[in-house]
Amino acid sequence: MWNADIPSANKDLNLYGSHPFYMDVRSGPMNGTTHGVLLLNSNGMDVEYTGDRITYKVIGGIIDLYIFGGPTPVKVMDQYTKLIGRPASMPYWSFGFHQCRYGYKNVSELEYVVDNYAKAKIPLDVMWTDIDYMDAYKDFTLDPINFPLDKMQQFVNNLHNNGQRYVPIVDPGISTNSSYDTFSRGIKDDIFIKNHNGSEYLGSVWPGPVYFPDFINPAAQDYWTDEIKRFQDDLKFDGLWIDMNEAANFITSQPLENSTLDDPPYKINDGGGRQPILSRTIPGSALHYGNVTEYNVHNLFGHLEARATHEALVNVTNKRPFVLSRSTFVGSGKYAAHWTGDNAARWDDLAYSIPSMLNSGLFGLPMVGADICGFMDNTNEELCRRWIQVGAFYPFARNHANKGSTYHELYVWDSVAESARKVLGLRYRLLPYLYTLMYESHLTGTPIARPLFFSFPEDVETYGISSQFLLGNGVLVSPVLQAGAESVTAYFPKGNWFDIFNYTNSVTASTGANVTLSAPADHINVHIREGNILAMQGEAITTRAARNTSFNLLVVMSNNSASTGEVFMDNGVELHIAGAIGTWTLVKFQAELGSSNVTITSNVTHGGYAKSQNYVIDKITILGLTKGVKSPSSIVRHGSRTVNFNDMEIKASSDNEGVFVVSEITNLKLSMWNNFKLELKVE
Ligand code: GLC
Repeated sequence: MWNADIPSANKDLNLYGSHPFYMDVRSGPMNGTTHGVLLLNSNGMDVEYTGDRITYKVIGGIIDLYIFGGPTPVKVMDQYTKLIGRPASMPYWSFGFHQCRYGYKNVSELEYVVDNYAKAKIPLDVMWTDIDYMDAYKDFTLDPINFPLDKMQQFVNNLHNNGQRYVPIVDPGISTNSSYDTFSRGIKDDIFIKNHNGSEYLGSVWPGPVYFPDFINPAAQDYWTDEIKRFQDDLKFDGLWIDMNEAANFITSQPLENSTLDDPPYKINDGGGRQPILSRTIPGSALHYGNVTEYNVHNLFGHLEARATHEALVNVTNKRPFVLSRSTFVGSGKYAAHWTGDNAARWDDLAYSIPSMLNSGLFGLPMVGADICGFMDNTNEELCRRWIQVGAFYPFARNHANKGSTYHELYVWDSVAESARKVLGLRYRLLPYLYTLMYESHLTGTPIARPLFFSFPEDVETYGISSQFLLGNGVLVSPVLQAGAESVTAYFPKGNWFDIFNYTNSVTASTGANVTLSAPADHINVHIREGNILAMQGEAITTRAARNTSFNLLVVMSNNSASTGEVFMDNGVELHIAGAIGTWTLVKFQAELGSSNVTITSNVTHGGYAKSQNYVIDKITILGLTKGVKSPSSIVRHGSRTVNFNDMEIKASSDNEGVFVVSEITNLKLSMWNNFKLELKVE
């Protein structure tokens, strides 16, 4: 573990972040007994796992070993994130779709991309700019020719008027160009990392020669906040993307003579070799504030930058910050979202994106995704289509491409566009669910995207699965990850599962089973399990528009237990999530099956916010029953009133196998802010 600017397209090498944490799920007499282990140590280390034991070879610091007793995966995450910091709350808009590319040439090209998404009717919430927008790659500046301030302001204003957002990149290396004000202020504030002899350490990144801010220095926070404020005064960006923060360096400095900090006697595996640990980063002998050596805090650079950037955004915008960081350490989830770095446009990389995302969740960084369609190399139509089908269900869904690779925005190929409309259409309908999962994650640390064993720890078959994942408790994503495949063999833990696109193709697994499902070019299999209730909203091309549609409650009945679900609602940018009363509403749903009826109830906490937004449930869809629900006892207790819903329409139709019946109750107008109790006959 040694944070490095090594593309994630590589296997079996140290990558951008370090998380000396693992979760152990045991099979045996008590299948699913789980614990977690953290070695809270920021020094370089090798960790060897040999099947029945784990060996830490750590080259410094303290042995600070934590064991989290669980005994379930969910409990381990609760215990772990209680120690390291709960995952940050994320703005509602950040669950929309994001478009980025390294190499957009100018503002007109940005406008062209945004226009083409609109023309193709593909959702787009956030437009990004990579280092191209800067003047000579200097942070907090704009290229005066291709990205001039007035045009960028106009561009960002237009985005905002359309309910869209803008996120630019910032790199930590500050150009040492003497006419660059950000640099001069850094010198004046004396916040850069030093050499052993007290001069500033000179590295080289995109702008050429750079100094690196020392985020351990308290004065660096004020400096960073001030720079971000100056930039925000000019351009109303909505979040920040912090890259190259391992810290990446394009040069490898010479080790100081006889320095065991630059060239330690035990050589950890860095980049697949055993060499001095200063390869393409800041040397171990460099000094931080208080004479702390880089040797001891190297793995914290990205983490501390994420913290400083988060604090700066809180200060400058007074809104919920959105920070995307490449490098992370234990606890970074408290400040930032994460993308998995430079993958390649290859089928293997699509497949790896799932375990990468799931790992990040276990590390307390649930807001995560991989570059959709692949960053390096040229993607192709089929791969990009399959990738958006998976990426639509990453918690953080961003399409990104490398400079020089062919364009792969989702409208480029008709078949990709068509599939994108379908899968992002579902994502946008699921936004209230994703957002509620974020809220739960923020409270308890349970990841948004989870390995199957989180919901089924007693089922040992789930332990090794990394080609499928769950969103929350019961939405199972089973993608195609191979070229040419038109079917997928997926594992279904015990229960009844329903295709979430059409509700009718159900899978019944009386014990866990591998099932081969058809997966034609435009389709990804996504199923919802019995026992779950999802509050969904309507399809739209921005999160803002989706937020204004009425709700549809998807209730999946179970013979074995009550079905449950919840939805958290607020304005999506409130700094303190679930803070002041009146700014948020939480509704819990429950559905029970009686001998001849179904009862669905809601339990509202602080209805005021939902009322202020006039949020109503217009439709309830009930799955999992072998008979349809028929009209009354259609008595609804709604708040203090008893209402006869005369306008309510009920229709029932059987599914493809003729086993289950899909019942739809429309025209309901149930307000979200009142408790309701709805009893329906089953005949
Ligand atoms: C790094 C980032 C990548 C970005 C590029 C240019 O490679 O990982 O996402 O596009 O730098 O800034």
